[in-house]
Amino acid sequence: MRLLTFILIAMLAACSPNEENNAVENEIADSFYEPVPAMHYPVDNPWSKKKEELGKMLYFDPRLSGDNSVSCATCHHPDKGWSDGLPRAIGFGGQELGRHSPTIINSGYFAVQFWDGRAKSLEEQALGPIQAAGEMNQNLDELVKELGAVPEYVERFQKVFGGMTPKNIGKAIATFERSVVSNNAPYDKYMTGDKSVLSASAVNGMNLFFGKAKCVICHNGPVFTDSGFHNIGVQQHGPLTEDLGRFNISKEDFDKGGFKTPGLRSVSASAPYMHDGSAASLTEVVRFYNRGGDVKENLSPFITPLELTDSEVQDVVEFLKALDGAPIVISSPQLP
Ligand code: HEC
Ligand code: HEC
Repeated sequence: MRLLTFILIAMLAACSPNEENNAVENEIADSFYEPVPAMHYPVDNPWSKKKEELGKMLYFDPRLSGDNSVSCATCHHPDKGWSDGLPRAIGFGGQELGRHSPTIINSGYFAVQFWDGRAKSLEEQALGPIQAAGEMNQNLDELVKELGAVPEYVERFQKVFGGMTPKNIGKAIATFERSVVSNNAPYDKYMTGDKSVLSASAVNGMNLFFGKAKCVICHNGPVFTDSGFHNIGVQQHGPLTEDLGRFNISKEDFDKGGFKTPGLRSVSASAPYMHDGSAASLTEVVRFYNRGGDVKENLSPFITPLELTDSEVQDVVEFLKALDGAPIVISSPQLP
C-alpha cells in the first residue's frame, strides 16, 4: 500500500508539470479562438438569392473567356479545393503562368485579393482574369455583347440589376464567391466544447501552432490570415526566375518577396501550396517552416528554425487538417 502511494505520488510529480503546461498551452490556443462570422456584403452590392444564382452561372460559364474554353471554375474548381491541383495555373493558350491558383474558399473574408493584394474587392478582382491576356483573354464589351445574345442572361441581369454591364458581371460573381465559406471544422467543435473531436496529435499540433511554432503570428483571426504580406523565404519555382510579390504594388523595399498570408481553413483540399505551388503537401509546408525557410534575403524576422521533432511536424499537419470545414456542397449550374 505504502509502495503504491509512493508510486502514485511519484507519477503525479512526474506528470504534473506537463499537465500544467498543457493547461497553459490550451489557454493560449483558447485566447486566440475566433469563430467564422456571418459573411459581410458590401453596401453597394447586397446579397440576394437571384444574384448569387446568376453569379454561380457566370462562374461556371466558359463563355466568359475569349475562345469560350475556360471558366473561373477551370482554375478554381470545387473538386480541387476551389483551386486547380496544379503548381501553377495553365492559362490561355496552354502556357504555364507564374503563380499558383489560390483557393477562393473564404475569399469573401479577405481584406485584399491576389497573392500581392493588388485588388481590394472581389468585385474588382473578378474582372481582372476575364480580361487578362494570359487567363481568359476576353474584352469586356465583347463579353457583354456575347452574354447579351443569351435571352436568359438578359432577363436575369434585368431582374437583379436592371441591366447587364461589366460592373454587374463582377458584382454577381463576387456574390457567388461570398457563398463559398469554410467554417464549423472539428477545430471549432473542439473550441466550443466537444473535446472528443480532435486526436491527441491534433491537440498537440494546435498548441504548437499557437505556441512554439508561432504560426499564429501571421495566421490569425477567424480565417487564419492577418491580411498582411510577408517574405517567408520561398525558393521561386516555375517559369519566373524571380517574383517580387507585394513589392510590385507597394514599391517598398521591405515588401520584396512578400506575399499575402493565405487563409488556412480547408487548406488540406487545395494542394500544392505557396504562391508558386512549390510545396506539394502540408507536411512539406511544415518542414519548410521547421528549417526556417529556404531563401534568407529579406526574410521575415518571424521565420526562424523551429526545432520541431518529426512527430511534432506531423502534429501540426494534423491540426491543419482539423481546420477542414463542413463540406461545401455545390452542383454545377445548368447554363442558359
Ligand atoms: C487560368 C486560370 C485562372 C482562371 C481562368 C481564373 N483564375 Fe482566379 N486566379 C488565378 C491565379 C493564378 C490567381 C493568383 C494570381 C495572382 O495572385 O497574381 C488567381 C487569383 C484569384 C483570386 C484571389 C484569391 C486570393 O486569395 O487572393 C480570386 C478571388 C479569383 N482568382 C477568382 C477568379 C474568378 C472569379 C475567375 C473568373 C472570372 C477566375 N478567378 C479565373 C487563376 C485563374
Ligand atoms: C511571418 C508570417 C508567417 C508565419 C510565421 C507562418 N506563415 Fe504560413 N504563410 C505565410 C505567407 C506569407 C504564406 C504565403 C507565402 C508564399 O506563397 O510565398 C504562407 C503560406 C502558408 C501555407 C500555404 C497555404 C496555401 O494555400 O498555399 C500554409 C499551409 C501555411 N502557411 C501554414 C503555416 C504554419 C503551419 C505555420 C507555422 C509552422 C506558418 N504558416 C507560419 C505567412 C506566415
